Amino acid sequence: MSVNVYDRFPNCLVVGEGAVKTIGDHIRKFGEIKRVAVITDQGLKSLPIVTDLIDILRAQGFEVSLFGDVRSLPTDRNVLELVEKMKDFGAEAVVAIGGGSAMDCARAANALYSYGGTLEEHNISRQKYSYSRNVLKPCFAVPTTAGTGCEVAAGCGIIKTDPITGEGVDFYIVSAKQMIPDVSIIDPLMSISLNPATTAATGMDALTHAYESMVSLNDFPLAAGLSLEAIYLVLQNLRAAVTGGGDIRARENMAIAATTATVSFQLCKLGLVHAISEGLSAFALIPHGVANAILLPQVMEFNAPCVPDKMVRVAAAMGINTFELSEQQAAARAVEEVKSLMRDIEMPFTFTEYLNQREKEQPEIFRPISRKAVDMSLKLAMESSFIQTNPRTAAVEDIEAMLDKQFAGYRFSADN
Ligand SMILES: [Fe+2]
Repeated sequence: MSVNVYDRFPNCLVVGEGAVKTIGDHIRKFGEIKRVAVITDQGLKSLPIVTDLIDILRAQGFEVSLFGDVRSLPTDRNVLELVEKMKDFGAEAVVAIGGGSAMDCARAANALYSYGGTLEEHNISRQKYSYSRNVLKPCFAVPTTAGTGCEVAAGCGIIKTDPITGEGVDFYIVSAKQMIPDVSIIDPLMSISLNPATTAATGMDALTHAYESMVSLNDFPLAAGLSLEAIYLVLQNLRAAVTGGGDIRARENMAIAATTATVSFQLCKLGLVHAISEGLSAFALIPHGVANAILLPQVMEFNAPCVPDKMVRVAAAMGINTFELSEQQAAARAVEEVKSLMRDIEMPFTFTEYLNQREKEQPEIFRPISRKAVDMSLKLAMESSFIQTNPRTAAVEDIEAMLDKQFAGYRFSADN
């Protein structure tokens, strides 16, 4: 019998409509803090959800500096620039508002700002530091997308770029339980203006977290309860959040589903979907939630023979009546339910479909991806720790076959 440690729990969740207005009270619990760095991404920095938050902080007596240059899928350059700006400002606390990119970039920058060192030295494979919450600057997370769950995550992913070309060549992961934000503010009003496509993609990310933690080899009953509840909440609310963006109840339930699913995967880890999608996001710039959604049905089918009893519970959490079904039928129905959800929220079903659609919509800025980007993703997947907690062993040929199917008919660029 093995002995496992489950220690990655959220520190403080502040949940409900208007919760963000209380942020100053929570910052003050961490002592005499004056200078607060607000970190967000380029698309959000001028929107009212960010400017209102800054107004709230200033009205409560804080000196605020806005760092609004986080790009989608943050890079090492992005983190290093942020660290320099935090030094110039003398930041005493960090408020990350946005999706996973802003929260990951802010938390990685906070580690370097508080401890010094390079991203290489903070990378999980050769982590030089043992973090202390007394040294890390207090971190407050305000998610605006219901999906990534980075507001309660210990790890953050940063793309390593080639210093000359700026292209992604590898992936840093900075991770420790002390990196979990000190306070996570889950306010449905923050995601009310999120567009349907991003709502759909981040919601599918939450569903993937819930499924992968549920079937993980590192499973744990306490986490299984969280995963199943998150699956239920996503199936009950994602359609309404996508099609009726202003539905506050659906937004709140999706925000809670996202947080709940991430708490579960912090304990149990993830699986094959995330092992493969990490590289596709880093090297082919496919949004994380979209990459996960496309891979999810296929990985569910691949894993099903190894987790028949769990698939019955997953199917039941989706609202399927499993009483008259065999384990195999329940698993098949669960996969169909995911596909039905994807159809309703207009998610693509293959990478070829997604990339061709993007090229059609934005021909002036779209750049076709190279075969090399897929090969690098395959290599990263085989090195991912998530592959070890996937319930079915995946050989390189299995992943190759999945990628071949998802990229069937795609015309790769000639770039190497
Ligand atoms: Fe994810």
